[in-house]
Amino acid sequence: MCGITGAVGLKDIANVLFEGIRNLEYRGYDSCGVALMNRNSIIVKKNVGGVGDVYQKENILRHSTHLGIAHTRWATHGQVTRNNTHPFLSCDKNFAVIHNGIISNYQELKVRLQKEGHRFQSETDTEVIPHLLEKFYAKTGDLEASLIQTVKLLEGTFAIAFITSHQPDQIYCAKRESPLLLGIGDEVKFIGSDFNAFIDHTKNAVIIDDDEYAIVSKDGYIVKNLLTREEINKPITRMEWDSETSKKGGYPHYMLKEIYEQPQTVVNALEVEEKTVDRLVNMIHKSKSAHLVGVGTTYYVTLYGTYIFSALAGRYIPAISSDEFASLSPVDKDSFVLAASQSGETYDTISAIKYAQSRGAKTGAIVNVMGSTLSRLVDCPVLQGSGPEICVISTKAALAQMILLTRTALKLGLKNKKIARKTYDGFMKSLRSLPDIIEGILNERSGFIHRVAHNHRNVKNWLYLGRGVYYPIALESALKMKEVAYVHAEGMPCGFLKHGTLAMIDSDINSIVFIPPNSEKVLYESTLASVEEIRARNGFVLGIHFDEGNRNQGLFSEELILPPVPPVIAPLIQMVIAQLFAYFTATSLKRNVDKPRSLAKSVTVG
Ligand code: F6R
Repeated sequence: MCGITGAVGLKDIANVLFEGIRNLEYRGYDSCGVALMNRNSIIVKKNVGGVGDVYQKENILRHSTHLGIAHTRWATHGQVTRNNTHPFLSCDKNFAVIHNGIISNYQELKVRLQKEGHRFQSETDTEVIPHLLEKFYAKTGDLEASLIQTVKLLEGTFAIAFITSHQPDQIYCAKRESPLLLGIGDEVKFIGSDFNAFIDHTKNAVIIDDDEYAIVSKDGYIVKNLLTREEINKPITRMEWDSETSKKGGYPHYMLKEIYEQPQTVVNALEVEEKTVDRLVNMIHKSKSAHLVGVGTTYYVTLYGTYIFSALAGRYIPAISSDEFASLSPVDKDSFVLAASQSGETYDTISAIKYAQSRGAKTGAIVNVMGSTLSRLVDCPVLQGSGPEICVISTKAALAQMILLTRTALKLGLKNKKIARKTYDGFMKSLRSLPDIIEGILNERSGFIHRVAHNHRNVKNWLYLGRGVYYPIALESALKMKEVAYVHAEGMPCGFLKHGTLAMIDSDINSIVFIPPNSEKVLYESTLASVEEIRARNGFVLGIHFDEGNRNQGLFSEELILPPVPPVIAPLIQMVIAQLFAYFTATSLKRNVDKPRSLAKSVTVG
């Protein structure tokens, strides 16, 4: 999604902004631009393409300035063109604006402004803002009043920032629903849509809440309420991620780095305090109905949760894709809704939680980004502690969420007396063995997975099949293949196959089947039955299975054999294998792995 940064203080702000928006590239974008203060006039430079290219094409670094704002755009209104790229100027060129979010009533505002003589250069919703600021400033001569009047007219979601030649030493910003932070350095102050915008300069951040605005200058900042204009005393939050943790550390892509970081991610998820997990458990236990929400990968994470809560705690907790939640879920004051979200900024998930809250439900969220909107919105936030996930494709954050859901289900099972203490201890021991097992598999099997992926790189269609808890793993693994390799992949429960899809089995479609350990006899046998069905039609099956001696011999067209592991961690290990399979397919096809097309790191629009 769009990224915002701004800085005031140092002399080489064009360069500071360059680093800032480069650190926001991971959010996904198609064009970018900057507005720089040049004495008392504003220079805007922008274009389509990557930050490095645009900076070079527009020769941005040659401008020396003490103040500026920058933006990466992910198109929502209007084509990907130079004219539609932020920042936007007012007619008199005294205001330059960048914006993240959507102004839903922009058409109506635009028509009104055009009638008053304002000329528009773009098709975007954002461009109404500089014109409104110009109009109100002409009437009042008061910048804060102009900002407040402008914002009053805007419907929708926004984090906006502007600079103005009427006050060349300050950056103004305001927010409703889209994230906005200030970065507080000694000699330089920042604004950003997330912490990465200023990660290289300061760890001190001020989180701006809805309906607040801020004025930032070299020596300080002031935060005020948009409705009352009263000053608000905001605490400084210290962000513990450092810029080194955010960098690639020798890996060719963040995706691979983050896959390899999973042993540590699991350790961190296991170290989340017991009392935090217990709070979630109590909220679920007390509720008459509980629901899980997430979208994309995090929906599959929560669907995994549904199976785990059912198996370990005897409690049916349906997972609903966040975007469908309001249509499907009859929540009330006796309900508890638990969201999962890496970014904590996903529009659909925030909307689902707000909907639940409007019906009186209690809410919780497992999130990775501290200070994110979701973490502040819910009654019970759980920070998963996975560290920055830079690749647009989610890997380590999803696995950590699954660990936390498993821990919660186990604790609930204990409380519900569905499992005995001894069983609980056994499961926890298995979870604690996971980091070493993943590490071993990553070290020993990556080469082989690479070869298999490379050999099958030209396969156009994959069917991903799993039964029981392996079904959400199949769905998530298919999504990984689609989003990073742009290869058609469909996740499906094995049982579905003979209800129509078997008709598709031929040489144009390959299957991947997630085989449970044979200690889960019923699941194991019925999964193998589906393999037989495909093989009987000469279909290709890549079996991902655990070493069971000779039992599976000759069943698969090709196989990935894993060391035997306890059943509770088996699906998680298979998911890691599928992440690598998607990664290597994508690199074989020379895809843009860390910034695949049409996906943004945090989807902050609905
Ligand atoms: C997939 C992916 C997306 C996100 C989805 C939700 O790899 O990254 O499907 O999972 O946009 O994002 P969060 O978890 O930030 O709410």
